[in-house]
Amino acid sequence: MVKPKVFVTRKILEEGMKMITQDCDAVVWQDELPPPHSELIKRAKGMDGLLCLLTDNIDQEVIESAGENLKVISNHAVGFDNIDIATASSRGIPVGNTPGILTDATADFAFTLLLSCARRVIEADRYVRKGLWQTWSPDQLLGADISGTTLGIIGFGRIGQAMVKRAAGFDMKILFHDPEFLGDFSNRNVCKVDLDTLLGSSDFISIHTPLNEQTRHMINTDAINKMKPTAILINTARGAVVDPDALYHALKNKRIRSAALDVTDPEPITMQNQLLELDNLLISPHIASASVSTRNRMSIMAAENLIAGVQGKRLPNCVNPEIYS
Ligand code: DGY
Repeated sequence: MVKPKVFVTRKILEEGMKMITQDCDAVVWQDELPPPHSELIKRAKGMDGLLCLLTDNIDQEVIESAGENLKVISNHAVGFDNIDIATASSRGIPVGNTPGILTDATADFAFTLLLSCARRVIEADRYVRKGLWQTWSPDQLLGADISGTTLGIIGFGRIGQAMVKRAAGFDMKILFHDPEFLGDFSNRNVCKVDLDTLLGSSDFISIHTPLNEQTRHMINTDAINKMKPTAILINTARGAVVDPDALYHALKNKRIRSAALDVTDPEPITMQNQLLELDNLLISPHIASASVSTRNRMSIMAAENLIAGVQGKRLPNCVNPEIYS
């Protein structure tokens, strides 16, 4: 039997890869770096399925170049702002993602950044390695308290809600802002508020919203000016939710205390980027979901979506289920 043809834009972890090569005739991009857009267009041609990463811009041109055979686009991520969903839907192509499995790993990491930023862990490590540790001093590397403070969560989906559990261990009060959240979160330490209230009342602000036209540069100069001067901003969602120039000026002028970014705009950040001059900024390379078991499960879930799609079955996790009706 002829196997369906798929293009996999990067090697994924072994378990997912095995499933794909067993059921599909797979062309796998071997480089460490993502395929350039021109290669995506070329390699997509005639494929039954595409498995892509969040670094691949699957726009109208790529989708159209694939042609009539394309039956599925499986994103190896929960976020799908890298894919033109409208074009995929208009052509009846289901788009898969990997929700749920990375919730805990991502919330763990967001909280790690919060703690590290508050207590200046990275600065302290640099201080020691530079040979600056001469003695114990009463005012050395003083940080911010965490226990009993207020955490503002922007975006109250799975990961935003998982932050509540972590914050509970530190007796934090929680404010959240999410116009889409209509559920009942009955916990006396958790309050739904408007964005301005959250910005003005939080000691820590953690972003967990998807990137879309409403959230792009949501954290701009205006928003930052509403924050406490002692506020600490954490972003593990998507870089472009924060305006990088506004953040640079705010951190440089100590308008807020500090920030931690696991995601940047652009991504990856270039070595010339002015943000890298700042000591009150911690940056990591988009690794919030990077635990062995999480990435393994992401590879399996992405493979399951791909295989279901090329076999004409409903995707187990589909972001545009309206195409089925
Ligand atoms: C996602 O899945 O969207 C994360 O950003 C990477 O795991």
